Amino acid sequence: TNHKIVVAIDGHSSCGKSTIAKAVAARFGYIFIDSGAMYRAVTLFALRKQLISEGLVKVQELIDLLPTIQIDFRYNAEKQKSDTFLNGENVEDEIRQLPVSQNVSPVAAIAEVRAAMVRLQQEMGKDKGIVMDGRDIGTVVFPDAELKLFVTASAEIRAQRRFDELTAKGETVSYEEILQNVQERDHIDSTREASPLRKADDALVLDNSYLTREEQLDWVIEKVKERLGW
Ligand code: CDP
Ligand code: CDP
Repeated sequence: TNHKIVVAIDGHSSCGKSTIAKAVAARFGYIFIDSGAMYRAVTLFALRKQLISEGLVKVQELIDLLPTIQIDFRYNAEKQKSDTFLNGENVEDEIRQLPVSQNVSPVAAIAEVRAAMVRLQQEMGKDKGIVMDGRDIGTVVFPDAELKLFVTASAEIRAQRRFDELTAKGETVSYEEILQNVQERDHIDSTREASPLRKADDALVLDNSYLTREEQLDWVIEKVKERLGW
């Protein structure tokens, strides 16, 4: 049969959500959407407009400018993945850097920002055949997703993975600073009022602290096949 499903992947920061989402999408020919990239792009926009200082966001000014923010994903054949575009500019690398990571959680806590992103995300998923990762995909964006995963791993393991990733790219970063950032974001993301990170009642928990990428992918592929009735 040709029927397609929606796969919603939520969890803490840096636990491997996008690694799984990307691989599952490739395996089934689905579209992969990194919803965190959208909140990161809004944050970069706010930083450039000097709407954030010392962790404080000028909320109303950002809300007023939301209609001027255009975000889209464009496939990069060379990298075999999509890049994030902000008002026509490729910001894929810049949104991964620490200034954005350090300011994204307060921006993502703004209800109006979330409403605008959720609308865009639902539009992207209207034909199904999509794998989206984030914090509220199974709870808010696609509450009817056929497969929901809640991914987790210890904060130390997650910080180490992020550290290894940035170090491999040649960046000089401190493990302590990354661990602190991971813990801070966990806290803000889980305790905010607007769509806090929480496991959907019908989500499957995947703790990958001691799983390799291959092991976790095999596990998830089986779940997708089950949902497809293969
Ligand atoms: O990849 P990493 O775990 O570092 O984070 P991300 O998925 O890129 O998301 C960056 C931030 O965006 C998170 O810390 C959340 O504050 C926010 N976010 C959100 O609120 N809702 C989503 N659906 C996705 C991300
Ligand atoms: O999307 P999210 O922020 O949840 O995490 P990610 O960017 O997919 O993964 C964070 C880092 O952990 C990447 O460098 C992955 O290669 C690595 N990873 C791992 O080492 N083992 C896993 N089982 C999953 C991810």
